[in-house]
Amino acid sequence: MAVQFSEETHKQFEDVLTRYPTKQAAILPTLWLAQTEFGYLSPAVMEHVADLLDLSPAYVHGVATFYTMFYKEPMGKCHVQVCTNLSCTLRGAEKIVHCLEDRLGVKVGQTTGDKMFSLSEVECLGSCGTAPVIQVNDDYHENQTPESTLGLIDELAKQAESASTPGPGTSNPL
Ligand code: FES
Repeated sequence: MAVQFSEETHKQFEDVLTRYPTKQAAILPTLWLAQTEFGYLSPAVMEHVADLLDLSPAYVHGVATFYTMFYKEPMGKCHVQVCTNLSCTLRGAEKIVHCLEDRLGVKVGQTTGDKMFSLSEVECLGSCGTAPVIQVNDDYHENQTPESTLGLIDELAKQAESASTPGPGTSNPL
């Protein structure tokens, strides 16, 4: 079956269109809506966006692949992004990447087998004064060390585990 926005997302898409002079100009927020709904931009999702905006699928693919914030494959529940730009690298980002690869058993660009963590290197996160910085989903974690990063990973794994165990007061932190 062809991919389609839900009714709710379609409403948001129509609202987005009112804020742009042309359909083409609305491509970034439309891709963001698509990623929010489907988790990542598969070829079928990009085709749906192309249909909605009267653009060619090749054009939409070109835009989606230009921006690293758009995922082209399924991601883990926690997307761990390590800034490896200059300030962070000078303050130990490479060590953080290596300890994450060791702990998670994946390389940069990969997702753990349980779909819990995806690991990426990213360009400057705009917080150079608190380098090294990592971003997990929408949250920044600054002044990181290998030890603090591994502690964070343990905490996230623990929260995810307790979230999957039904019980009073249990909520999904992710
Ligand atoms: S270099 Fe890492 S936040 Fe700027």
